[in-house]
Amino acid sequence: MERVNIIGAGLAGLSAAITLAQRGIACNLISKLPSERAQSVLAEGGINASLNTMGQNDTTELHYHDTMKGGGYLSDPEAVATLTQRAPEILSWLETIGVPFNVKDGQPVLRPFGGQSKKRTAYAKSSTGKMILNALIDEARKYENQGWIYRWMHHEFVCIHRKGDACIGVRILDTYTQKMWDFYGPVILAYGGLNGFFPLQTTGTTSNDGNAAATLFMQGVQFGNLEMIQYHPTTIGICGKRCLVSEAARAEGGRLFVWKGQEPWYFMEEKYPEFGNLMPRDVVSREMELVVKDPGCANQVYLNMTGLSDEIWEKRLPDLREEILYYLQIDPKSEPVPVEPGIHYFMGGIDTDNHHETNLRHLYACGECTCRYHGANRLGGNSMLGAILGGRIAAENIDSKAMSDKKEEEVAGQLPSYSMSLALQLGTILRSGLGILRNDADMQKSLYQIERLEQKALTPTDKARCLFAKAMVNSALSRKESRGAHYRTDYPQPDDTMQKMIVVTYDGTIHMTWRPLRQRRNA
Ligand code: FUM
Repeated sequence: MERVNIIGAGLAGLSAAITLAQRGIACNLISKLPSERAQSVLAEGGINASLNTMGQNDTTELHYHDTMKGGGYLSDPEAVATLTQRAPEILSWLETIGVPFNVKDGQPVLRPFGGQSKKRTAYAKSSTGKMILNALIDEARKYENQGWIYRWMHHEFVCIHRKGDACIGVRILDTYTQKMWDFYGPVILAYGGLNGFFPLQTTGTTSNDGNAAATLFMQGVQFGNLEMIQYHPTTIGICGKRCLVSEAARAEGGRLFVWKGQEPWYFMEEKYPEFGNLMPRDVVSREMELVVKDPGCANQVYLNMTGLSDEIWEKRLPDLREEILYYLQIDPKSEPVPVEPGIHYFMGGIDTDNHHETNLRHLYACGECTCRYHGANRLGGNSMLGAILGGRIAAENIDSKAMSDKKEEEVAGQLPSYSMSLALQLGTILRSGLGILRNDADMQKSLYQIERLEQKALTPTDKARCLFAKAMVNSALSRKESRGAHYRTDYPQPDDTMQKMIVVTYDGTIHMTWRPLRQRRNA
């Protein structure tokens, strides 16, 4: 067969597939949904690179420092150095494949985004993810026609095949026919985030159901920093999920306020005069949580975008206005919008090395399923960058000697299944322990409730989900400090001795170890 197997066809998976094709290596691109429905399509605000096109004296070094600081200094410096140094190369490639970035004088216009000292977020109105995804889909199609990329749509991941400490293939399920197949050779995981552990509560797609992560954990794949969950400050509730109100709204002048008596209080501007509404997301979400608990304030935060010009609405945020009008019947041009934080991104995930290889040889991971670039809090605009770069690095490092010429085969076996009711209960339990403000008692209670739920788990996947949930809560309990998105009211300060990754593995019991960060080689 001689093909690499990629699980997931969003930005990270497509980027890996295209890079492999450019290297003359064929791949199976396996996904539950077509690329057009990958979560990447939901990314709105933009993608970062220190392009310095607006006379702002930006450098890759400043991008590096902002990313490290925004991430609570918990990212591997080596990983962040690569991310920020290769960002301009990624942006110029995206331009060459036709992403319609907003431009002026032929150069991308850049937005200021949260926690960034310079304007460095390139964007395509307020649908950047969709535009980038479309361009990558088109680029991949070229290689599909040439026979380098074979699509397996409507196929989902079941498990990997291991031989000792190596991955030798993957089992997938055809969701239409319910037939299962074994594919051999190296595997690149690009299945997205852990949204399915938080149904109804996330801006991401819950078709990323979390089963892949739970199964891989049971199979001995190593994960890191599972306690690090990003709450995006500005989301609105729509049927069955949270809908993002892009950070771009604040980048273009949107202001957060809460009613304090008869007066609107622009709390972010008062408390953080330098960055105001554009502080990193962990800080903004926490402040919002605190003001609505303050007895002197009303219990609703609003985003005021009424000061934005017609030109901004038309040229930079048209889709955002449409979305708010459609879902809330509020015109943000003339009325403040009630917003609240919602689960948006998972900084924790599969632990990889500099080549995006996991603890198992020939098993790679990229995109949101990994724990690589974002430390304790991701900066807006760095996720699509990390996904595209991660896919590229994994594909650049695939060992062509590990390819297998064994043919794929249909296999019999137990079909994977899980209970939606258990997933919903697990989501509620996790949310109560792993909220924006955490403490020992709440997390212990969550752990106890998960253990009780585990006793009712019927299928292997349900059991794996409970186990994985315990690993998340145990990681949060172990980190007895506050850092980035992990804020503990019982340990409100960072502790230098914990500026390390919590690595979690399973071999019949859950093990947690603290690993020092990988230092930067080219400082
Ligand atoms: O707010 C946003 O537009 C989200 C961007 C991101 O998560 O990078």
